[in-house]
Amino acid sequence: MSALRGHGGPRYKHASGESEPYGTIRVEKLTPIIGAEIGGVDLARPTNRALDEIHRALAENLVIFFRDQELTPEQHLAFGRHFGPLHIHPAAPHAPGHPEMMIIHADKDSPRANGEEWHSDVSCDLEPPMGSILYIRTCPPVGGDTLFANMYAAYDALSDRMKQYLDGLAAIHDGEQVYRGTYANYGVEDKKTYPRAEHPVVRTHPVTGKKALYVNRGFTRRILGIPTDESEGILRYLFEHMQHPLFQCRFRWRPNSVAFWDNRCAQHHAMWDYWPHTRSGFRVTVQGERPV
Ligand code: SIN
Repeated sequence: MSALRGHGGPRYKHASGESEPYGTIRVEKLTPIIGAEIGGVDLARPTNRALDEIHRALAENLVIFFRDQELTPEQHLAFGRHFGPLHIHPAAPHAPGHPEMMIIHADKDSPRANGEEWHSDVSCDLEPPMGSILYIRTCPPVGGDTLFANMYAAYDALSDRMKQYLDGLAAIHDGEQVYRGTYANYGVEDKKTYPRAEHPVVRTHPVTGKKALYVNRGFTRRILGIPTDESEGILRYLFEHMQHPLFQCRFRWRPNSVAFWDNRCAQHHAMWDYWPHTRSGFRVTVQGERPV
């Protein structure tokens, strides 16, 4: 039985404190734990007040969604730059003339789709991205949802013993297995090396000050300073624990929807359940800082 259901009730109880009302945007939560749909803003022309509130909504909800947006590549990039300098993906193909604009595309000829494993984007970078802004233009008739999970909640739900055990541990995140050969179908040649970095297993979010689990199935290979078999056991437990449905929301895309997620405290998983249909869009990714 999951530890979350032990001891006569859910161990994780979300403290859903009421937040101040928003003045410009509308915020409708998808679940009490993660995700909100945002209305009342045109991302092609956001006001400074709307941008401040979007920042706040992201901090409060970890992933936010916008519907019916019409963005040119330049407007998508400009929206991303409001949150920091843009990140260039170490492996994936990009839109012509826009290295900061990653192509997200799968169709009947694709050997794979992006992000099919739970992960935090490019966590193998020394300074992994703070946030990602995905704009989907073409959707399959059904399917292609993206799942998001709250890593503060996953951390909070651990036992005090496990929290003590993880305190101060670091893990290796490696891009090699994820990226080598992955984009050959786009004609992208492999690089000599791919990013690899050591990050704390639990990180403190620089804006909220909250602790979040920061290991993921996609990139995290090994916890350092403990025997290999122990690292495998602990990672297996943490990966299972963090994908408990209690920590999740699931977003159903429509053409011209945007999702903006915070990679420092949320993980995501893209469903490739729509073959042979096409799902297509672009991701703009905002640079982040070294996890502490
Ligand atoms: C990704 O950025 O990992 C892909 C997410 C998605 O396609 O929904």
